Amino acid sequence: AKRSLLSGFGGYLPERIVTNDELASRLDTSDDWIRGRTGIGQRHVAGEGDTAVSMAVQAARQALDYAGATPDDVDAIIVATSTPDQAFPSTAVRVQAELGATSGFGFDLAAACSGFIYALSMADSLIRSGQARSALVIGSEVYSRILDWSDRGTCVLFGDGAGAVFLTATQDAGEGTGILSTHLHSDGQYGDLLYVDGATGRHDMPAHLRMQGREVFRHAVGKLSASVDEALAANNLTHADVKWLVPHQANLRIIDGVARKLALPAERVVVTVDRHANTSAASIPLALNEAVRDGRIQKGDLVLMEALGGGLTWGSALARL
Ligand code: ACO
Repeated sequence: AKRSLLSGFGGYLPERIVTNDELASRLDTSDDWIRGRTGIGQRHVAGEGDTAVSMAVQAARQALDYAGATPDDVDAIIVATSTPDQAFPSTAVRVQAELGATSGFGFDLAAACSGFIYALSMADSLIRSGQARSALVIGSEVYSRILDWSDRGTCVLFGDGAGAVFLTATQDAGEGTGILSTHLHSDGQYGDLLYVDGATGRHDMPAHLRMQGREVFRHAVGKLSASVDEALAANNLTHADVKWLVPHQANLRIIDGVARKLALPAERVVVTVDRHANTSAASIPLALNEAVRDGRIQKGDLVLMEALGGGLTWGSALARL
């Protein structure tokens, strides 16, 4: 059977860093409040030259380099984003053009903070079915564009950035490497807990992220823990088999809650939320990229990924590197 190997990793963060103290100088908030409630200490914010496309391209190039691949090796490009630069052409085909890849196909996928898990799942299906021999899976987000910077309840939580993985097809000879399984869920009846109002690109009706934070929080740990258990059970694995948890980085309290249910010590959980804040669909590939490049995650390690976001959408993915 065909399997998808995680062959390359990349990430991009805008140069400009906005600290909690900087936010506290213009809003009624404090470093103590933000750190205590979320674990966030700072976030990167897109500058003039940073767009969903430009950040995705930088992350993608790094992922291809890591894999020793070229744009000619790319079959499918899936970009998970809720903040595309324009409605169409999609971010993915613009990335394709910037990379100079001409074969294959690309499309965007919107599943808010769960976007990377959804995109990974779609790419894995394409590879398993033989429709693609490789796939760039990218999360690229410019939430700074859709934040209401006067709403302290939301604007302190998010950051900009992009992350990418390059998947390649392999023939599974029973060694169990690559993506083992992915598990997706959504429940649209909770759509009003976290949404974007207005319309992107309209100055008379600007789009802003709106959230009932406490309600989202209430759903998070339970749904994520169930999804993680589902992934382990599907592969006849237990909590003890997990080497690394690479969670979506929304809030340290949610991350800790899931880790506690897995009985996983803090040193096996990859955390970036302190420096990146919540970069939505980019957060998992950014965290993966960091932990692979600094040598924490190694070949053969079992990696569990999970995310929950607007929709509500949520899900998990299990992979052996
Ligand atoms: N600084 C200071 N005070 C604040 C701030 C701020 N930045 N934001 C809100 N407050 C105040 C509120 O106004 C409120 O004051 P009041 O009691 O006088 O009305 C008080 O703090 C408590 O507000 P809550 O919203 O109830 O605070 P809570 O403890 O729930 O923390 C938070 C808010 C951090 C958003 C939390 O609910 C949370 O993390 N929710 C999860 C949602 C999440 O992470 N979403 C990210 C996107 S979805 C995803 O990716 C999973």
